[in-house]
Amino acid sequence: MAKIQAIRGMNDILPEQTPVWQYLEDTVRRVLQSYSYNEIRMPILEQTELFKRSIGEVTDIVEKEMYTFEDRNGDSLTLRPEGTACCVRAAEQHGLLFNQTQKLWYCGPMFRHERPQKGRYRQFNQIGVECFGIPGPDIDAELIIMTARLWKELGLLANVSLQINSLGTTAARAVYRDALVEYLRANIDALDEDSKRRLESNPLRVLDSKSQSTQDILDGAPDFSDYLDDESKAHFATLLETLDQSGISYEVNSRLVRGLDYYGKTVFEWVTNDLGAQGTVCAGGRYDGLVEQLGGKATPGVGFAMGVERLILMLESLDKIPAEVNNNPDVFIVSVGEGTQIEAFKVAEILRNQFLSINVQTHCGGSNKNRLKKIDKSNVPITLIIGENELKNKSVIIKTLQDKSEGSQNKQQVEVPVADLLNKIEAYL
Ligand code: HAM
Repeated sequence: MAKIQAIRGMNDILPEQTPVWQYLEDTVRRVLQSYSYNEIRMPILEQTELFKRSIGEVTDIVEKEMYTFEDRNGDSLTLRPEGTACCVRAAEQHGLLFNQTQKLWYCGPMFRHERPQKGRYRQFNQIGVECFGIPGPDIDAELIIMTARLWKELGLLANVSLQINSLGTTAARAVYRDALVEYLRANIDALDEDSKRRLESNPLRVLDSKSQSTQDILDGAPDFSDYLDDESKAHFATLLETLDQSGISYEVNSRLVRGLDYYGKTVFEWVTNDLGAQGTVCAGGRYDGLVEQLGGKATPGVGFAMGVERLILMLESLDKIPAEVNNNPDVFIVSVGEGTQIEAFKVAEILRNQFLSINVQTHCGGSNKNRLKKIDKSNVPITLIIGENELKNKSVIIKTLQDKSEGSQNKQQVEVPVADLLNKIEAYL
């Protein structure tokens, strides 16, 4: 019978890979906590309407990429393609927004029916951050400073660069949109097919086109920065000044528009050249109109999300995973002979009580002969052996891969009383 395979673009994360995921997640969690962000967990399924009203009806995500279906009650549900809308929905529903500030983060799978390739999947994981109730550019800057710290901690700072832009207020955007449309209409023959279509439905997205002929035409197009109103200009200038003062380099890219409609004022992307076509590892911006658009009281919001798979690809390809990030046991306990298994369990518990993050593997199953073979083959730094003699003597044999005292490669072994084990073993851990 044919075996059932996973769905294309949806990956299993295998045990040999999970230590790297845990390392990345732990590092991010630690950094977020140090900036006083609190975790929120939302459902993976939401009402379809939530994404239509937030991301925008005329976006690739809503038009082509959502996993939408009717449930048994006939309600239209969608597997979340991103977390911002869900976070706004949850925060609003539970009264976290009105007259308050909130600094929230979340982590988990998102779903988009895109064409899978390296760095682009149909189920992928984001770690997202959303901040509500703070209108000024100080919080935009803090979010970016926080991401820079994270890249530094992960050893990736030299391999990412920051692109930043201001999309202005809704009013400024509308004036710019008209100017852009007028210019593009006059050059319509040179546009690629996708851009011709977008010109009618969502013209700002033309700025994002991958087509060279369209990009050539855009060289002569009106520039977003010339259309910013005073409020947006001041917001952007203070943000850039804060980044300058904080030692964060950036490139202002006036064609950076992002693929979701809820942004206004600040938008930014951290990009890398190390991942081929899917080079954006973290992206976000300000969305001051979104809470109101979803039925709440007007509340400023700003945030970003990073692609966990893309960061892991970077860590791997740049060899930035610390050596201690693995599943390897620190101690292997083998018991050989009558009554020794119970003693092995007791010794293992003594070690676990004493050393909080220790990885102790006990040998279960198998014959005595098999167990003796395992001792010889073990590559675990410390093997503890309990035979019938040791059981009688209330002792264990400590066998190490290296004799640390002499720097020798030979396996060394020494018998110590169980009562003395913790003292003795500490030197080897
Ligand atoms: P986004 O740009 O759609 O923004 O996604 C953020 C990040 O998720 C991307 O930069 C990328 O690293 C990762 N990503 C997106 N799609 C895929 C995919 N198919 N496969 C692998 N990784 C992917 C948002 O989702 C916004 N909600 C970000 C945000 C939060 N803005 C404000 N707050």
